[in-house]
Amino acid sequence: MSKQTQFRRTTVPQIAARKGGEPIVSLTSYHAHTAAIVDKYADFILVGDSLGMVMHGMESTVGVPLDLMIMHGKAVVRGTQKALVVVDMPFGTYEESPAVAFRNAAKIMKETQCGAVKLEGGKRMAETIRFLTERGIPVMAHIGLTPQSSNVMGGFKTQGREEDSWAIHEEDARAVAEAGAFAIVLEGMVEPLAAKITKQIPIPTIGIGASAECDGQILVLEDMLGLNEWTPKFVKVYGDLGPAIERAVSQYAEEVKDRSFPGEDEVYR
Ligand code: KIV
Repeated sequence: MSKQTQFRRTTVPQIAARKGGEPIVSLTSYHAHTAAIVDKYADFILVGDSLGMVMHGMESTVGVPLDLMIMHGKAVVRGTQKALVVVDMPFGTYEESPAVAFRNAAKIMKETQCGAVKLEGGKRMAETIRFLTERGIPVMAHIGLTPQSSNVMGGFKTQGREEDSWAIHEEDARAVAEAGAFAIVLEGMVEPLAAKITKQIPIPTIGIGASAECDGQILVLEDMLGLNEWTPKFVKVYGDLGPAIERAVSQYAEEVKDRSFPGEDEVYR
């Protein structure tokens, strides 16, 4: 107990205590440098398995390996001082049994030093969430559109379009909250359903393509920065990083080709 850090990170109980209070700000990040910027503004940073698609060109998150999550998780923890860091458990590392989930979640926490893990699934994952939280692993749940199940769902589809399907999602939310999840991501869910769940459960809801009524919001950083040519319809784009990078790269290429690129005497003065 001798090591004192200069900055205290946001804790899991602090996030849980924000239910119905000041909205929770969160973003994804996968690298030390973007995480250091996001850290100034976010209450928590998610090292999402979306990194498989966003950074590594995969078609879905299904192929993301545990070691990749750990590598990016370490980078984000190193780059940050203030925000709680949550790391996604990738597909195939937690569904089999609570014991398998514990082994892999403990590996993520020990190797990255993150503060919590996130896993997808509602009622069916409740037993696992209880098993992990009772053994010292804080869990953020994730229901609605769960990308790791996109093969079963037939793609990335907004959930709850038919009102008679709402009860299943409400039951999922209640089950993970009762099992001990400290917060829950509601992804790709019709607005009134997400608002209804937010009112019903005692833990903070974090919306993505859900409702402004959620207790907090999360976006994939590269989407909101305008880095990708395509972004989901619900994403408000705040930056123009894609065109900005292209302008810089094309200017560099031109300068190299027409030999106007600065020489040693100009650069190292
Ligand atoms: O993987 C991810 O980035 C996520 C967010 C979209 C919530 O799970």
